[in-house]
Amino acid sequence: MSSLNEVLAMAGLSEADIPRIVAALVLLVSLAIWKSIKPYHPPKNVPGPPCKPFVGVLHLIDKNWSTLPDFILSYDQKFALGEFLGDGIFTADGPSWKHHRKVASQMFSRNLMRNGTTVALRQVKLLVEKLDKLTQPSSTSSTVDMQDMFFRMTIDVFASIAFGVELDSILSDKPHPFAVAFDEVQNLSQKRFRDPIWRWKRNLQLTDAERRIRKGCKTMKDFAMEVIHSKRREASNNESMGPDLLSRFLDTKNPLDGEAPGDNELRDIVMNFMIAGRDTTACALSWTLYELAKNPEVCVKVVEEIQQVCNGGDAAASRSRTFSDAEYSYENIGNLTYTHAVAMEVLRLHPSVPVDIKFAVKADKLPDGTFIPAGSSVLYSPYAMGRNEKIWGVDAKKFKPERFVDDGKISEPSQYKFTTFNAGYRLCLGKPLAMLEIKLALAMLLPRFKFSIANGHKGGYQSTLVLPMAPELMMTVTKR
Ligand code: HEM
Repeated sequence: MSSLNEVLAMAGLSEADIPRIVAALVLLVSLAIWKSIKPYHPPKNVPGPPCKPFVGVLHLIDKNWSTLPDFILSYDQKFALGEFLGDGIFTADGPSWKHHRKVASQMFSRNLMRNGTTVALRQVKLLVEKLDKLTQPSSTSSTVDMQDMFFRMTIDVFASIAFGVELDSILSDKPHPFAVAFDEVQNLSQKRFRDPIWRWKRNLQLTDAERRIRKGCKTMKDFAMEVIHSKRREASNNESMGPDLLSRFLDTKNPLDGEAPGDNELRDIVMNFMIAGRDTTACALSWTLYELAKNPEVCVKVVEEIQQVCNGGDAAASRSRTFSDAEYSYENIGNLTYTHAVAMEVLRLHPSVPVDIKFAVKADKLPDGTFIPAGSSVLYSPYAMGRNEKIWGVDAKKFKPERFVDDGKISEPSQYKFTTFNAGYRLCLGKPLAMLEIKLALAMLLPRFKFSIANGHKGGYQSTLVLPMAPELMMTVTKR
């Protein structure tokens, strides 16, 4: 107490001033919290109701839309998901985004697609093996959470494509620590979007969730660094490098400064790739099995096409456990037109990213005249647009893959009508890879197993950044 008195005396204060000091501190902290909450004050000069949705309007303003991304770019993800997105394509804007987009575009080469096909085929084979075990003896059906299977499969596919490592999630009982951390950090950090004081919780490490996010990020970063260092060692020993993204990017030069990427840059590039591709594809696959179970006549047509294109019309070969990789080649998968339309129709009704948000970096007007004040957020909902009759016609809510087929070929809709993969400058770079993964998985699974909905799933979903089915996707699986 005497030392406190000394401190107070040095500041020209006495014990009687303590309540006032405490009150001033409380006021300061409250002010700081208030500033960080940034309460929403609806701008007075926005015409119409305070929140004007784009639903049904976006595709009509298509022609002028190309100017829009110039002023609506910046992301909230940068802050809420920054720890694990790092400095990658999702968190970058302006010149930095341009650079990332250029680097990322190089990834989506034909080679990546071929390697993606090989990797995905290996993982789907493991899934077939797993389902075979679960449906032993062959007349037995088994109830399986197929969404869980797809999340396991896609983390292995993307870890293999990105890092060249096998996580073995499908067959193992105990998931790899990287996979556990990846799921936990994503689930916990997306809750920050609904928490106005999350920054305080993070900075002061106040909650269990924030401590787990920090721990999970460290696990992922340590894993990524370990892989990067081992790849660098292999490269310096002149060992032949794998087809994974990390190995491909080790030696590339940044077109802006001519430098090879550093460890952190490499880590962020591959992590952004995994985050972009994994959950989105797993959700799409889950909804596809659900829709096919609800629409058996569509499933029959898909299986017939697969047998025709991949197995030369041989139904027995399409069910066989021994097959050549050539049957499921990149080219054959590319020729699955109706299956492609099915995947598009699933993604129209169940877009993996149901709502997307952008922030106006400067004030401007939408082409329809709506004023957008600087700093305000602009949302669009591919989920609502996908079900809007003004956009898709009176049968908008019907599952009808034929709407994407014209004269035996895929009829690609405008990006601004089919917004599942975003539109304009920031259009999803991974769309071809995602479509390939989905079709390949269907080509292997559907002719070999029958999937029907168990437990009367009604198609409910979880509210996260992506659109997983809720609470899971229990399916009755039977060998064909
Ligand atoms: C069904 C699967 C997928 C869907 C529905 C989807 C959807 C989207 C959406 C909506 C965006 C815009 C996000 C934003 O505005 O912040 C996006 C961006 C992106 N996606 Fe995908 N995606 C899928 C799969 C993939 C895959 C497999 C990859 C590759 C691994 C990928 C790579 C990317 C990248 C790199 C961007 C950032 C583009 C940029 O900001 O310039 N996506 N995706």
